[in-house]
Amino acid sequence: MQQIGQGNIALIQSAAPSVRNRDVDFPFRQDSDFYYLTGFNEPDALAVFIPGREQGEYILFCREFDKTKALWEGAHAGLAGATKHYKADDAFPIEDLDDILPNMLEGKKKVFYPMGRDSDLDQHLLEWINHLRSQSRLGLTAPSELVALDFIIHEMRLFKDDEELILMRRAAEVSAQAHIKAMQACRAGLYEYQIEAELIYSFMQQGLRHVAYPSIVAAGKNACTLHYTKNTGQLISGDLLLIDAGAECDHYAADITRTFPISGTFTEPQKRLYQLVLDAQTAAIAQIKPGASWNHAHEAAVETLTKGLVELGLLKGSVKKLIKDEKYKAFYMHRTGHWLGMDVHDVGEYKINQQWRLLEPGMVLTVEPGLYIPANCKTVDKQWRGIGIRIEDDVLVTATGHEVLTQLVPKSIADIEQLMQERHVAQL
Ligand code: GLY
Ligand code: MN
Ligand code: MN
Repeated sequence: MQQIGQGNIALIQSAAPSVRNRDVDFPFRQDSDFYYLTGFNEPDALAVFIPGREQGEYILFCREFDKTKALWEGAHAGLAGATKHYKADDAFPIEDLDDILPNMLEGKKKVFYPMGRDSDLDQHLLEWINHLRSQSRLGLTAPSELVALDFIIHEMRLFKDDEELILMRRAAEVSAQAHIKAMQACRAGLYEYQIEAELIYSFMQQGLRHVAYPSIVAAGKNACTLHYTKNTGQLISGDLLLIDAGAECDHYAADITRTFPISGTFTEPQKRLYQLVLDAQTAAIAQIKPGASWNHAHEAAVETLTKGLVELGLLKGSVKKLIKDEKYKAFYMHRTGHWLGMDVHDVGEYKINQQWRLLEPGMVLTVEPGLYIPANCKTVDKQWRGIGIRIEDDVLVTATGHEVLTQLVPKSIADIEQLMQERHVAQL
């Protein structure tokens, strides 16, 4: 309300259901911005914020309570629930939007809304404004400025408060446990989807019914496809398995990657590359503290990886020049992390005035360096080909440094091999 300012108005719409096939919808996922502001988890809703409005500043348009709908689809808030349980000052039927909203827009200067996100809302807003304009001779005034609401909300979402962190910690903890279980379930001969099933089973057993993104379960050279989600390959002894998976807890994501040997023991080349990625991740995480530039972690990862690739003979030349010429991109082609929150690739600017922004307490980011050596890469020795490794943790910037939210999942070579060893004992 403070940022919108008196005399202005903001609108934001819920997500719309999306059809999977004929009468079946995809599971409904509320729009993150809308949920952040309202906590309201139904489609067909629009929230309006009018700072200083005497009859109430926060108005929710939503579905009216409908007995038949309740019978078929279950409970929904209705207008009474919108004010009682969701603290709206006022609630109106969504069907009455066209009748009511123009009056709310009348006399306001700026309209803040998620510009260009939903063409229906874009269209309607212009219609409502034109309708007001056509009545200017009656003394009505239409808003004269449309402003993107995204920036305001996204800056708020970038800083996680204590209640949000409870949800993020839970998502992290359940996802971490699921990774441990998946490692223990890993056996040569299984298919990637069977490991995916273990992950989903663990998430759901803990009450987290949704993944934050489709799980990547990539054995052997499949791990060189960055967003591999086919998950149909077979697990072969001697290969590595890369799992990138996270659950969502009340709309907050975890995002964890671990890579480990299917047999339980790393081969020599796997061990060398794995240790290098782990060193890069350790160096990157060490950079995370308030006041550090967003890019420091990436720079630390790139430097460690490039040095290591030269030592192992995968790159040749001076480390400085290889970094300048971005030669590491042949094997490390993505960035070292992203903001994490309600969306797995969360909102928030990475640069301010064209400079990488500085980290501040309450921000959460991933740190996920990797190495991917294509199976057909003729420029490197055979032993390295077809190996894909990524190690990803979720890191909270604290007042004094950082906290790794996902540290429960083993990642040192010794800890991984020990966990896999215990699995063999359990299987006997
Ligand atoms: N799971 C997608 C990512 O790590 O960014
Ligand atoms: Mn990630
Ligand atoms: Mn990931």
